[in-house]
Formats: sequence, structure tokens, C-alpha cells
Amino acid sequence: MKIILIGFMGSGKTTTARQLAKELNCSLIEMDDLIVKKSGKTINQIFKEEGEIRFRELEIETAKSLSEKDNSVISTGGGIILNKIILDYLGRNGKIIFLKTSFSEIEKRLKNDTARPLLKDKKAAKKLFVFRQRLYEEYADLVVNTDGKSVEKITYEIISQN
Ligand code: S3P
Repeated sequence: MKIILIGFMGSGKTTTARQLAKELNCSLIEMDDLIVKKSGKTINQIFKEEGEIRFRELEIETAKSLSEKDNSVISTGGGIILNKIILDYLGRNGKIIFLKTSFSEIEKRLKNDTARPLLKDKKAAKKLFVFRQRLYEEYADLVVNTDGKSVEKITYEIISQN
């Protein structure tokens, strides 16, 4: 079994993936962590020193290296829907789940965040959010609304619909 969690920054992909992996006895894979390890830089550094396009290339390389993985829960970065090829690699024999969260909830959750370069400008982040919604929906095999729900409840919904 392979589960891929997609959604905007702050939608709870990492926390949910951790809980799912525990419940399903699968390995947990965090794409952003793999990129940070591989490059030896933080996400902020990659964006600043090499640019967003280089970061997207690293995402593609990482997704390719994960395409044959099984028995795992994969937590992705919020921008992976920008490159269809990533979903093609990750989605092979896997189920893509969109964690759908409202922008106001995301603002609340991430109000003190400094690790995400694309959240620095709130207006631009809102635009990005609106633009991406359709893409998340399009690639998802399952959509789970997360507003006001605990990670346990979200995990339960995913497992019971699998
Ligand atoms: C990004 C989301 C981040 C990270 C990078 C770019 C995006 O991951 O990959 O800052 O384009 O939405 P999270 O969704 O885990 O915050």
C-alpha cells in the first residue's frame, strides 16, 4: 500500500502522514526532508541561493527515486502539483489524498512560520492558494476536509475509506 498526501502548506500533511504510518505500520517518507538532506541546505536557502526552479527540479528527482516504493506514506511539499510528472511518479500504485484546509485556518496555523519562503507575502500566498485548489482536486483520488478536525479524526477518515 502507498498513500500520498497532497495539499497546501499548513494543511497537516506531515502530522497526518506520521499518524497514518504508525497506524498502518508503513514507513514514513517526507519529501521536503529528503530534499534538505540531499542538498545540505534548508528550503529557505535553496530558494534564496538557487531559486524556486532548482527546488522544483529537486522535487522531481526525489519523486522519481520514490516511484517504486511500497508500504509507505509519503508527505509531499505543497507545490508538487505544479509538475504533473511528480504525481505520475508518486501515484504509481498509490492513492493520492488531498487534505483540504481553508485559507483562514492555514493562516491561523502558520502565523509564526518562518521556514516557508512562499508564505512571506500573505497576499501572494492567498493567490497561490486559490490557483492551486483546482490542481489538488484534479489529482486527488480522495479529498478530506481538515478544518476543525483532529489528526486522529483525519487519519480515521482516510483509513476507513481505503
Ligand atoms: C512549498 C511548500 C513547502 C515546501 C516549499 C514550497 C509550496 O512544503 O516544499 O516551501 O510550494 O507550497 P509544505 O507544504 O510541507 O509546507
